[in-house]
Parts: sequence; structure tokens; C-alpha cells
Amino acid sequence: MQETQTSSAAPQRIKSRGLEGVVALDTEVSKIDGQKGLLIYRGYDIDDLASNTRFEEVAYLLWKGQLPNQQQLDELNAQLRAERALPPFVLDLLRQAPEDANPMAVLQTAVASLALFDSEADDMSPEANYRKSVRLTARIPTIIAAYDRLRKGQEPVAPLDRGSTAFNFVYMLNGEEPGEQAERVFDAALVLHAEHGLNASTFTARVIGSTLSDMYSAIAGAIGALKGPLHGGANIEVMKMLLEIDSSGADAAQYVKEKLDRKEKIMGFGHRVYKTFDPRARILRETSEDLAEERGQRKWYDLSVQIMDTVKAEKNLDPNVDFFSASVYYMLGIDTDLYTPIFALARITGWTAHLLEQWEDNRLIRPSADYVGKMDLTVTPIKQR
Ligand SMILES: CC(C)(COP(=O)(O)OP(=O)(O)OC[C@H]1O[C@@H](n2cnc3c(N)ncnc32)[C@H](O)[C@@H]1OP(=O)(O)O)[C@@H](O)C(=O)NCCC(=O)NCCS
Repeated sequence: MQETQTSSAAPQRIKSRGLEGVVALDTEVSKIDGQKGLLIYRGYDIDDLASNTRFEEVAYLLWKGQLPNQQQLDELNAQLRAERALPPFVLDLLRQAPEDANPMAVLQTAVASLALFDSEADDMSPEANYRKSVRLTARIPTIIAAYDRLRKGQEPVAPLDRGSTAFNFVYMLNGEEPGEQAERVFDAALVLHAEHGLNASTFTARVIGSTLSDMYSAIAGAIGALKGPLHGGANIEVMKMLLEIDSSGADAAQYVKEKLDRKEKIMGFGHRVYKTFDPRARILRETSEDLAEERGQRKWYDLSVQIMDTVKAEKNLDPNVDFFSASVYYMLGIDTDLYTPIFALARITGWTAHLLEQWEDNRLIRPSADYVGKMDLTVTPIKQR
């Protein structure tokens, strides 16, 4: 869709509820083919990346447009290691946060507060914005893990001066180094969640970025958008559903049908762009089955498949990324309400890549609305109202 605004002509009007089908900008960061079920990060298929790269390589790819060589990857890993610790104020803030707070609200507050202690927060040079992308990617896992421990009455565990993002996050969460399998599965989940086009949170980040506001403001806004159950919050709702079916002993198919009869949505299904199987769900389905076998917890996978088959039969809808990630995180022993913060831990790379791209050639993002309210009213003096 070409924008046709000039100084003399009125802009072309494109009206679409929820902006469906509206192309707001060009991007080189990722491509989704919703008909074929393809997801491409900067030219590379998600299957290839999930099998053959680590999360840090994908972060570099998203930011820089090419996969790193060994030296570039070593440099990035060193930068991430150097940036993982939190400013004392932010750690104190996490100590003060109520133990029953929503972890996404805590993450959003903590990320916004990081700006106070970053002397580069308002430096809009590409170099400073790249450094902030790395800094945020390093610190978000530390925030999530520290808050999770504090709310359980445990002291935060300092990051190690070695190991990957996945390794460090699981280590900081549990105080124990993860096994090779847990690290690998978690790392692959981060790769799958790293980037996904102009979804609601990325769009939010770009809208805020387009005002030339700073990266922390844009990311705090994106976290707020991701929190919603129609976006990243769906993975929590999926696990709640699995647990409810399991604890009540309900028949999964019957449970789903009754929900649909009540016109309720089944979380983890449907997508604005994919009209076929989400490729990330396909990969996570395999991971969920492997983990279920290895950990002797088949019931979570079997239950998920029963739900999936029923939703397909009843509504012809396929699962999205949130559906099988729920059982995967559960079998890795991660608390349910951390699933969406973990989504943010991965997506920070995509959000920041989009912001770097936005600022390369910025134009304020500002759509319009049709006014359908009253007209021609006149003000009655307040005493007569
Ligand atoms: C992702 C989502 C918000 C996309 O929404 P959308 O493009 O605006 O599509 P709509 O919500 O308008 O849905 C279109 C139709 O499919 C149905 N539908 C979509 N997702 C559904 C779901 N998860 N369960 C049941 N029905 C669903 C709607 O009820 C609607 O049916 P109708 O035309 O008979 O009213 C939507 O599919 C959804 O709410 N899914 C559940 C939440 C989720 O998993 N989010 C994570 C996305 S990665």
C-alpha cells in the first residue's frame, strides 16, 4: 500500500479495524508468510536458526543483519556478561515490590527505572542505541530471576562471568547450573520467541520510538503490550487451562467444547497473520513431546494434543507459539506467571532491532480515527447542567 500524501493532496484513507491488512512500513528484520506457515529472520528460516544457532547469534543477526563470526560472537558474549548486573536502585526496587505483584508489571517498572542509571539513555546515536540493546538484553533476565527469588524469600543469585543467556537465566532462577538439555531447550525457545514482525508489542515500541523518545520508554511500552492475554499473556492462560483440566479430571475435548459453546476463546490458538500451523508451534510441539518422554511427564503433552485436535475439529484453528511453550516451560520447572516475562526476555532482541531500524529512517507513526460522536453541541453553564 503506497502512501500518497503530498502537500496539496489529501492522504489516501485506508480503514481497517485492528489495522488488519494495513502495511505501515518496510522492514528487513523478519518476514512472516501466514499462508505457508513460514517465519524468516533476516533471510534465514526459523527451522534452520532453531536447529543451528544459539540465542546470542540470533540477537546479533537481528541487530546487525548478518550472523556473527566467532570473534564477533565472543565480543557480544563478553558485552552481555559485563552488563548483566543491575544498578543497586533497581535491585532495591525489586526488594520493595510486593511478593504478589504481576511479574510483567515488575519487569516494566524495573526496565523503565534502568533509564535513570544509564548515562546514554537519551543518546540517540546508532552506537549508543546498539549498546542499550545489548544492555537491556543482558539485564532483563537478571531482573526476572532476581524478582522471582525475592518474592519467594530467597536472595538473588548474581550472574556468572561465563555461560549463555539461557544458562545464566536458569542459574540465577534456581541457584544451580542447568543441565545441558535444559539449557539447550531453553535456548531454542528464546530463538523461537526472538522476533515476529509488526506484532502488537513491536508496533508499540516503534510507535514510541517514532516520536524520537528513548529506547527504555519504547521497551517499557512494549512490555505493557506483551502483557495482554491476546498477545504474550496467552502462554500463562494455556498452562492454567492444562492445570485446570488435569486437577478437575475433566475430559479435555468436552472442556474445550463447553468453553467454545460459551463463546470463550481457547488461549494459544488462532493468529492474526498465520492461517496455518505457526512454524514455532510446530518446533515447540516436538520439544514438548521430547521433554515429556525424557521427564516421564507425558500427560502434559497428551493433554495438549487432545486440546489441539478438538480446537482444529471444532473451529479449524491451529496452535500459535504460546500453546506448546506452556507445557515446555512447565516441564522445565518454571513458574507459570514467568512465562510472559520469559517471552520478553527473548523478544527484547526483536524489539530493539526494530527500534534501530525505525531510527535509521524515522517518520512519526500517527494513524487517524473516524469521529462518530455527537456534533454541534454548545456548552451549558456549569450551574445549569
Ligand atoms: C490471536 C488473536 C487475538 C487474533 O485475533 P484476530 O485476528 O483479531 O481474530 P478474531 O479474534 O477476530 O477471530 C476471528 C474468528 O476466529 C475465532 N477465534 C480466533 N481465535 C480463537 C480462539 N483462540 N479460540 C476460539 N475462537 C477463536 C473468533 O472467535 C472469531 O470467530 P467469529 O468470526 O465466529 O467471531 C485471536 O486468535 C485470539 O484471541 N487467540 C487467543 C489468544 C492467543 O493465543 N494469543 C496469542 C497470539 S500469538
